[in-house]
Amino acid sequence: MEKPVEVETVPVHENLGGIYHDIEVRGESERWTSLYKGFEDVFELSPDFISRSPGRVNIIGEHIDYSLFPVLPMAIHADTLVAMKTERRGREGYFKIEIANLEGEQFPKESWEETSDSEIAIDEKTHAWTNYFRAGLRGSLKLLREKNGADWRPRDMKVMVHGTVPPAGGLSSSAALVTACALAILYGQGMKKVEKLELTRLAIESERAVGVNSGGMDQSASVMSQKDAALYVQFTPKLSVRHVEFPKMDPSLVFVIAQSFVKADKKVSGPFHYNLRVVECTLAALMLLQQLSPEAEGKLPHPLPQDDSPLNISLGTVFNIFWDTADDYTRTKFPDATKVDDSMLQRLDYFANRFVDEVLPSETYSKKEIAQSLGVSEEYLDHNFIKKRFPVPAETFRLRDRAKHVFSEAARVYKFMDLLESGPKRPETDLEFAKRLGDLLNQSQQSCINKFDCSARELDRICLYARVAGSLGSRLTGAGWGGATVHLVPASKVNSVRAALREQYYKDMSINGERLTDKQIEDAVIVSRPGSGSAIFSTSNKKDGYKAFGNEVGTWGE
Ligand code: GLA
Repeated sequence: MEKPVEVETVPVHENLGGIYHDIEVRGESERWTSLYKGFEDVFELSPDFISRSPGRVNIIGEHIDYSLFPVLPMAIHADTLVAMKTERRGREGYFKIEIANLEGEQFPKESWEETSDSEIAIDEKTHAWTNYFRAGLRGSLKLLREKNGADWRPRDMKVMVHGTVPPAGGLSSSAALVTACALAILYGQGMKKVEKLELTRLAIESERAVGVNSGGMDQSASVMSQKDAALYVQFTPKLSVRHVEFPKMDPSLVFVIAQSFVKADKKVSGPFHYNLRVVECTLAALMLLQQLSPEAEGKLPHPLPQDDSPLNISLGTVFNIFWDTADDYTRTKFPDATKVDDSMLQRLDYFANRFVDEVLPSETYSKKEIAQSLGVSEEYLDHNFIKKRFPVPAETFRLRDRAKHVFSEAARVYKFMDLLESGPKRPETDLEFAKRLGDLLNQSQQSCINKFDCSARELDRICLYARVAGSLGSRLTGAGWGGATVHLVPASKVNSVRAALREQYYKDMSINGERLTDKQIEDAVIVSRPGSGSAIFSTSNKKDGYKAFGNEVGTWGE
């Protein structure tokens, strides 16, 4: 008999030890208490529960999630907390939201009313911090209405937020915020068992409402990670994950995250950076797709195949169509493809190094050229891709290099996973093996610089200094153009990497004319242990409110 598939739900904890590593519990206990008290100060009531969702660092697989290729991120310790109380008090037909942040000066309090059947408007041009709550609210209400029927009426919500993921720092503060908000809303509005996959999908959709055509990596890592394991995320045939532990090695290896302090807000720079890359990858996919059957040549197949990527057709889908359904026509046209065996690596290698070069020989393509080559109008391209949802103002597109990055980066993820699964090839030493892992990270960085153009001088400098000081592999992590870097470092070399970055990068750096403080420099480089994903902390059966989990570790964390 087939085993029933277990649907994983977001855990509900009653002590912080279930959420954090032991060493983190003391500091977190104080922070959670401040949030709890902060809530009571502002609302004169205690919260019913607190939801939490972490940021992430991506180990490898950059800018390929929206092309639906697998990626390997892990959750970090830093996270967003959302304390909430729901009640039914407002006037008939409406519900009220009051939302505050523990750092009220930076993130001002807001309150407003919505009609019970509201679709929740988001003005993404305002870049308000509460837009992320609104995004989570919109997605959550849709799901709650589907589950509870159209007559269902939301309860009023009092909300207090606190986040430790640095904003615009490349560690996915936005996914942590959207996900923690969406989880709090679902739970607070009565959904006591929140399915992890459902929450992840909802958070992906919700974040796309805030101005970024993002893939699904950040939300998957935030919701579904487990302590001490990286998360292998696959997007096809459907969203699924595998927890991957690193082999024990001598010397032991750690991941170090180093901030660049170059702000990278992918929402603000979307039209020139992130959203433009999504468009470039999509246009490249169309150009490749057009080669795949005689009827399609010179025009796009109709209807277009559809997938779950932000613009609904991706390089990953075209790749799968090529290998799954390639017919005699394709084989005659691209005879080299027939020599490729059916391993994923060979197939990716053929795409990255042969197919893309043949189909996209030019470095750049104008909109007009792309339209002509696909047999469509420029308006069609604008309407369906270039100006769909979040318009990008570009007139020329670097299709070949973007596609080459995607296929080669996808290959690096497979190679990395292969290495983790097979371990060292004796007599290879652990260190030699670790260097092979590190090489893949270094190659990823190279491709981000040369092919995807998503690095920044500061990120390149950090990677260079870290490698010289003992990092085996160094690269940007997340969207790039600033933000954070990740480094694979033997534990014995962490101090020398830290010292090198302090001396060569942070010491002379200033932000808005001000030198970095010692504390900023100290916090800029951290060793990151894989953390756990989204959780609910139920405070309702603590008899004495925050005093019951108090300031001492014993009570929050035991
Ligand atoms: C951002 C996006 C992710 C992913 C990365 C780049 O973090 O939110 O979906 O595309 O950039 O790998």
